Amino acid sequence: MKFFVDTANLDQIKEAQDLGILDGVTTNPSLMAKEGITGEANVRNHYKAICEIVDGDISAEVIATDFDEMIKEGKALADLHENIVVKVPMTKDGVKAIRWFTDHDIRTNCTLVFSAGQAILAAKAGATYLSPFIGRVDDMNWDGVDLIAQIADIYTIQGFQTEILAASIRNPLHIVRAAEAGADVVTCPLSSILGLLKHPLTDIGLAKFLADHKKANS
Ligand code: E4P
Repeated sequence: MKFFVDTANLDQIKEAQDLGILDGVTTNPSLMAKEGITGEANVRNHYKAICEIVDGDISAEVIATDFDEMIKEGKALADLHENIVVKVPMTKDGVKAIRWFTDHDIRTNCTLVFSAGQAILAAKAGATYLSPFIGRVDDMNWDGVDLIAQIADIYTIQGFQTEILAASIRNPLHIVRAAEAGADVVTCPLSSILGLLKHPLTDIGLAKFLADHKKANS
């Protein structure tokens, strides 16, 4: 399973990269805005800066909602760096755009996915990645991880090649459950990745080992 970090914060991206487990980065317009990155030129420079830090797939989202503009914007984003994956929303124009990008060898991440039907359409259009938002599904009182499992079953049965990228991850348990459910990729806040490290018995065990070593060597 690939690990992506879900942020536009360069310090957090560097910290995740330094862990040695990072395979890519996802961003979205909200995450860009949170970092104060505004204006087309600054946004594009920011994507280039991310590509300099991480040698892996970097999702860059189109803002346009109509087909022609999505194509224009997606082409410009893809031209920024070979690792850019164009992130396209799950809409009618979005599906058409994913098909166009697929036919023109531009990789895509279909975002804002909340149902198995949407997952089938995106795969049919040739999406490279599919992003079901599991945290936002949970917020609606459904089980987001169940959706991952359902899509994983369908993709296996049908032989779809689209990779399932579990998104909107809110905690370490989401990562573990997404892995169990068959996600190919998880994109997570840095805090959820670091949360995987935590276990009190590890801390207690290490303290005991160090204390015993100190006693024996003093
Ligand atoms: C996915 O690519 C999105 O950027 C992200 O995971 C959305 O997460 P949120 O629901 O926590 O905003």
